[in-house]
Amino acid sequence: MKDNNPNQGAVNELSASPRPFNGLIIREKEPENLEFPFSALNSSLVSNEQFFVRSHFPVPAVDLKTWRLRIGGLVEKPCEFTYDELRQMPSRTVTMALECAGNSRIFLSPKVMGLQWELGAVGNAEWTGVPLAEVLNRAGVKQGAVEAVLEGADSGEIKKEPVSPGKIKYARSLPMAKALRPEVILAYQMNGEDLTPAHGFPLRAIVPGWYGMASVKWLDHILIIDREFRGYFQTTDYTYWERLNGMPIQLLPIGEVEVKAEIARPALYETVPANSVYRMFGAAWTGESEIAKVEVSVDGAKTWAPAQLLGDSVKYAWRLWEYHWRTPAQPGRHTVMARATDARGRTQPMERDTHRGTYVITHVQPIEVEVKQARGSSSTDSYAI
Ligand code: MTE
Repeated sequence: MKDNNPNQGAVNELSASPRPFNGLIIREKEPENLEFPFSALNSSLVSNEQFFVRSHFPVPAVDLKTWRLRIGGLVEKPCEFTYDELRQMPSRTVTMALECAGNSRIFLSPKVMGLQWELGAVGNAEWTGVPLAEVLNRAGVKQGAVEAVLEGADSGEIKKEPVSPGKIKYARSLPMAKALRPEVILAYQMNGEDLTPAHGFPLRAIVPGWYGMASVKWLDHILIIDREFRGYFQTTDYTYWERLNGMPIQLLPIGEVEVKAEIARPALYETVPANSVYRMFGAAWTGESEIAKVEVSVDGAKTWAPAQLLGDSVKYAWRLWEYHWRTPAQPGRHTVMARATDARGRTQPMERDTHRGTYVITHVQPIEVEVKQARGSSSTDSYAI
């Protein structure tokens, strides 16, 4: 089964002339953690070469001859699948915006621990694979199953506080209700090509609507359990404090994506021509809903104007948007902002929610630009009026 991708129309409109490969930003050399330069956004799908990489441990070596996906725990028939068997099963393609829960961390002040992602620990791709439900149905999930633990083949020891209990594998769980949803797939292809080693070859989970940490790469083991998983990346890392009447009452695993818009252009500190019309442009996404509107403010959040949403809405994919900004006649520093609202009426907050710790950074980001007197501007995105 192949879903249509109406966003494809927007892709073609926006990439009339192919742009060169703009490279990636290194956030960590070993293991490799690479950021997509968000200001290079020019189509709905981010190419495999430009897609950000977030890995906690080195890429594991895989030999397809011996590689197996093992299903065990609370199932009628513990079983294994070869790569070829998975590729022959009914497949599904989903378009999903994958955002790392730590995206935009560099904007937090005071500075917090963790990789200092700017705007590009996010990308939108078409993922093809076998629905997780299909594989679980073949194994036969037993009564009393609470969660599916997804484990990758990569492993290592976390030596920074909070340290791990020795060498551990990367693992995250999903409640059975989400694990059995049709959009959750075990993907072997990304944008129509086999996964690259950095993105999880040969197999990874794709969990639409959830932050990237749930989309386990190098997946080779699924364990069905009768309780909540309490692994390192579920309870120590990728967590937030739930509060009741202001009191932090429990640490919970991060799950669903919150609504967010980002501005690709102008880029941070870009020089824009004064007294012109500048085409602002970006993307917006959310969790288990759809983008209802994106608004732009060019006067420090005093007033907001609607941006135009491009293409069609595709659940779990991001939605591109644009806004034609009449830039000020006066040169100088200027701030622009964008904020998104989803179909459930959730809007990005102006202020940071401190209980989110070092993750889920969705408060509105002011983007500072330099307005300059236009002198025969060569920008293709702006024109003098
Ligand atoms: N899966 C494994 N096995 N190991 C990892 O370190 N990182 C997770 C997730 N899956 C990770 C993993 C995180 S935090 C993110 S944001 C996404 O993979 C990033 O996917 P990408 O590198 O393909 O962009």
